[in-house]
Amino acid sequence: MIFPRWTNHVPVALVLGAPFALVGVVAFIWYYFSPQYTQVGYAPPQPVPFSHKLHAGDLGMDCVYCHTTVEDAAFAAVPPTATCMNCHAQVATDSPQLALVRRAYETGEPIPWVRVHMLPDYANFDHSVHVAAGVGCASCHGRIDQMEVVYQAESLSMGWCLDCHRNPEPHLRPRSEVTNMDWDAQAAGYDPAADPHRMRDLNPPQHCSGCHQ
Ligand code: HEC
Ligand code: HEC
Ligand code: HEC
Ligand code: HEC
Ligand code: HEC
Repeated sequence: MIFPRWTNHVPVALVLGAPFALVGVVAFIWYYFSPQYTQVGYAPPQPVPFSHKLHAGDLGMDCVYCHTTVEDAAFAAVPPTATCMNCHAQVATDSPQLALVRRAYETGEPIPWVRVHMLPDYANFDHSVHVAAGVGCASCHGRIDQMEVVYQAESLSMGWCLDCHRNPEPHLRPRSEVTNMDWDAQAAGYDPAADPHRMRDLNPPQHCSGCHQ
């Protein structure tokens, strides 16, 4: 990695305090010379061997069943233990793999899930805006329904955000298909420009203050 994690704090000062020109130069250097795929593949071990492949893939559960806030809030909350117990009070009740889940439910201590995706604090991101615009989870997180362990599928770099913001059309889908992992624009013959449910033109920000405040 060329920029170690601590350098995340340096740009805060730059973005907030330095003259615009200097920030522009930093951004230019960063944008053109930093590696695009720094954290792709990051898959920290989790305290419980929870499988998206099993739950979202084989069992076909919708993402929103667990990530309940993703349509309405900036943050896509990870579910509380009670959501797991909706089923696991009856299903696989003596599985050793669920021991920590049962204990967490009894004690009320949250399960210490490890964050996979994480933007630096100085970059703003809002799930609800993207979901409302019809950007699928798969565009940014990959085929979660095939992952035994969640890994970061995209770089989440500034260049990656901007690539889509400059030309979002190919990434758009009907609002109803946002969590559908199998959906494919070509197979569906979907043209966002001709979708009568699209009420307005989209205008993803490309100016600095759109994402940095
Ligand atoms: C049964 C509940 C459940 C369902 C259904 C579910 N998830 Fe999750 N998801 C979790 C839990 C628990 C975690 C935290 C543990 C982990 O990372 O595996 C998580 C983590 C994630 C993460 C990583 C979060 C981070 O730390 O960065 C992403 C991305 C994600 N889920 C996307 C999805 C998508 C997309 C779907 C639908 C295809 C989905 N999830 C369906 C429970 C669920
Ligand atoms: C809609 C029902 C449902 C929900 C909600 C649910 N699961 Fe499951 N889970 C299942 C089923 C069904 C299995 C497969 C059980 C089996 O193989 O006997 C399973 C299996 C598992 C296993 C593997 C158990 C084993 O011994 O192989 C783990 C671990 C697990 N779930 C964790 C979780 C966690 C953590 C949550 C909450 C984030 C959760 N599950 C939410 C239905 C659910
Ligand atoms: C436009 C790209 C994009 C889309 C679409 C998207 N995500 Fe994310 N997701 C991200 C980014 C970026 C982060 C890291 C956010 C941060 O650190 O502030 C993230 C983080 C998460 C997290 C970790 C908790 C959080 O909010 O930081 C979960 C869970 C998650 N996403 C689930 C989903 C689900 C489910 C969908 C589809 C309904 C979805 N995401 C759609 C880019 C996206
Ligand atoms: C796959 C396409 C795609 C990716 C990737 C993407 N965006 Fe967006 N973004 C959009 C679209 C579409 C909109 C909607 C614009 C609108 O509603 O007019 C949007 C809107 C936004 C907005 C405006 C929010 C508001 O309140 O109006 C911000 C901020 C934003 N994105 C930040 C990010 C950041 C930061 C990243 C990278 C971590 C990112 N986006 C990645 C497509 C994308
Ligand atoms: C679409 C959203 C978006 C826009 C617009 C945007 N940025 Fe960023 N920027 C980001 C994200 C996300 C990161 C964090 C990337 C990472 O963690 O790899 C970032 C990182 C940075 C950094 C830190 C570089 C580093 O070494 O990590 C600087 C400086 C920066 N941006 C400046 C700018 C400037 C100046 C502009 C206007 C010309 C701008 N940004 C426009 C999303 C955006």
